[in-house]
Amino acid sequence: MLRRAGPSLRHFLLERNCSAGYSSCSSEAKMSRPVQARRLEGVDKNIWVEFVKLAATYSTVNLGQGFPDFPPPDFLKEEFTRAFSGEKHMLHQYTRAFGHPPLVKILAQLFGKLLGRDLDPMTNVMVTVGAYQALFCCFQAFVDEGDEVIIIEPFFDCYEPMVKMAGGTPVFIPLRPKAPKDGKLMSSADWKLDPAELASKFSERTKAIVLNSPNNPLGKVFSREELELIADLCVKHDVLCISDEVYEWLVYDGKEHVRIASLRGMWDRTVSIGSAGKTFSVTGWKVGWTVGPNRLLQHIRTVHQNSVYHCATAAQEVVAQGFQREFEHYGKPDSYFVQMPKEMQQKRDQLVQSLVAVGMKPIVPEGTYFLVADISEFKSDVPDVPNSDEPYDSRFAKWMVKNKGLAAIPLSAFYCGPHKNNYNSFIRFCFAKEEATLKAADDILQKWKLEKTTP
Ligand SMILES: Cc1ncc(COP(=O)(O)O)c(C=O)c1O
Repeated sequence: MLRRAGPSLRHFLLERNCSAGYSSCSSEAKMSRPVQARRLEGVDKNIWVEFVKLAATYSTVNLGQGFPDFPPPDFLKEEFTRAFSGEKHMLHQYTRAFGHPPLVKILAQLFGKLLGRDLDPMTNVMVTVGAYQALFCCFQAFVDEGDEVIIIEPFFDCYEPMVKMAGGTPVFIPLRPKAPKDGKLMSSADWKLDPAELASKFSERTKAIVLNSPNNPLGKVFSREELELIADLCVKHDVLCISDEVYEWLVYDGKEHVRIASLRGMWDRTVSIGSAGKTFSVTGWKVGWTVGPNRLLQHIRTVHQNSVYHCATAAQEVVAQGFQREFEHYGKPDSYFVQMPKEMQQKRDQLVQSLVAVGMKPIVPEGTYFLVADISEFKSDVPDVPNSDEPYDSRFAKWMVKNKGLAAIPLSAFYCGPHKNNYNSFIRFCFAKEEATLKAADDILQKWKLEKTTP
């Protein structure tokens, strides 16, 4: 299953010519060797570079990029201080390459309990530099030239280039919205896969499907029925599932986060990915993990070993202590995993109200800390330019940050190139923000509302 078992014959010959001092290896000749186009695609047009810069230049309130602006829980900060200033000076040195032992042990205990199976910390868990590296390792480990990978739109934008960099072909399927009849606000649950369309995407060439539940950017939490549909197709077509569950603890309104690896026939074909950044509100620490069967993780370990090799020891130690604490408080009222979604749900509801006031139509998310809002009523503020290459939502988000000081991300950023104009009248807000930040956003929106209503 692992690709690139060794160098190609051409590469071998070039190397030999080099060491023999042949002229074909002059630096000029080297520079003119073609670089695979897929490795250059998009380098000049990354949405994050553009929108992060715009937010830094113009925004008073930044609800664009997804990170909390509030501190992590006290118990974690205390562990952090202990790890860095305490007696354990070996925390400043390398640890086990595939994961600091205390961290893989507690992750195996916790996910073993959640998945209802015994997990071996050494072979069923691997720590990564954030979930981002876990994703990269998965695509490098499993996707070969000619393989297809199904991606559900809208999607966390790095999936597409990562699949392509591995030599694979992304195959997209959209979640299709259906407005509720009763005039209620739409929910992320109203965005659904069409079962026949999904089935049509699976073929002989399908190697994997990427699932992201709860989903960034929509906040959709896939129901058990929806996951069973995906699982049945994976089993039928012998397809792997790369399950990005970084927002697993951020689920609202009593909804259940179902782990696809726990469904029938799925453990053996699923790699579940998590993030301490999202779990403990510490995105800057970049600690993530993969959980899955050894037959899959052995390939991920090989990619990790030959690229990153090792993750920051002290950060892993602190995350391990955080999970230990949560394991002991599991399901209790003082558990961070119980308290955090409650607080976040209030923030969600607050932002929903602020957006409704100005005339946007929020899609109420069932999970994550993102909220997508429909801006199609704003064509009088920001007129549409028919046949423009730039999607409407992108122009709207730029106008909003420059004229109102409020930063958000256009939803089209989460669609592949040819589909960017299919859902181009939505923008994404992040509500993992302090009370003061949400209040400042509300002030901007209230003022905007007044301007709209005053002739
Ligand atoms: C869906 C999704 N997956 C993965 C990541 C990356 O997580 P990490 O910061 O742990 O690398 C993010 C970060 O925003 C995300 O939204």
